[in-house]
Amino acid sequence: MKRIFSGVQPTGGIHLGNYIGALQRFVKLQEENEALYCIVNLHAMTMPHDPAKLREKTLELAALYLAIGLDPQKATLFVQSDVPAHSELAWMLQCTTYMGETNRMTQFKEKSEGKDSVSVGLFTYPVLMAADVLLYQADAVPVGEDQKQHMELTRDLALRFNQRFGDTFKVPEPWIEKVGARIMGLDNPTKKMSKSAKTEGNSIALLDDPKTIRKKIMRAVTDSENVVRFDAENKPGVSNLLTIYSLLAEKSIDDLERAYSGQGYGQLKKDLAEVVVEAVMPIQERYTDIRQSGEVENVLTDGAERAQAIAEQTLCDAKEKMGIVSFRR
Ligand code: TYM
Repeated sequence: MKRIFSGVQPTGGIHLGNYIGALQRFVKLQEENEALYCIVNLHAMTMPHDPAKLREKTLELAALYLAIGLDPQKATLFVQSDVPAHSELAWMLQCTTYMGETNRMTQFKEKSEGKDSVSVGLFTYPVLMAADVLLYQADAVPVGEDQKQHMELTRDLALRFNQRFGDTFKVPEPWIEKVGARIMGLDNPTKKMSKSAKTEGNSIALLDDPKTIRKKIMRAVTDSENVVRFDAENKPGVSNLLTIYSLLAEKSIDDLERAYSGQGYGQLKKDLAEVVVEAVMPIQERYTDIRQSGEVENVLTDGAERAQAIAEQTLCDAKEKMGIVSFRR
């Protein structure tokens, strides 16, 4: 049995990119692995944030974890800040990270571009992410493609620590799928679908109502050829729609191309809208029940306890290796 760890930020609306690139796989992976899924609320503070919203989004994401089918009997679901070891190890790892390494991160460059004041937290964000993973001695980390560089840094930091201070951390493998690891924005298919996109038509949130979903898909940017064919480079819009369709309806892209040959984009979009609505409606129904039931709090309390027990062991070991002594009773 492998141990897997992953995290999602409780910011913005959790969208189809998050679902296809990560969350949908979390559900499958809980069956045959020891899985820990974290709500990384400390990462959600690296950009200016509203405390009330952060509180609400944390509970929303926890309820969504359950609504998509994560089972607290099988997977450990918890909030990052409930396990203080994340912050402690992050500091320790920051002392072994070079400025040049965090400065190279493309996500930091993108998020800080054109801004006058950028938080130190945004700069050191990938080190906190490394701490998240390394604390649990995770074998593998299922993520979307945009986290690849952060995972490379995580591996580098683990190797460096082990080399300097002695074997402490397992060096984790990123699990990035070949298809669906980078779902593109509907209104701009040359850029990834993103929670922080400024335009409404960029993403479909798992909690969007059917009318909004249909509208966003019908307005998705395509091209003028009107031939349904997968060609990510020359036809990024249609290819993105085909990818979403294929992964949600479990049909191959070849089959879809055949089914839509001779038909224009209109039919493809209409059908895709129904596929998406059908995928999210059951999630939304369960979500509403879960929010009303109050079960989220109990799940997170149990999860925090289980996560804490594992994290504490790794943290103690890492502290000892680094020469951090304790006189606490
Ligand atoms: P976050 O919250 O931005 O995204 C959550 C997950 O969704 C994936 N994802 C996508 N996949 C496909 N297409 C897209 N357009 C798309 N957008 C996002 C992300 O790759 C991610 O897997 N830094 C992380 C959170 C994190 C984490 C961790 C992840 C913190 N600590 C430890 C794994 C392990 C992030 O911001 O994800």
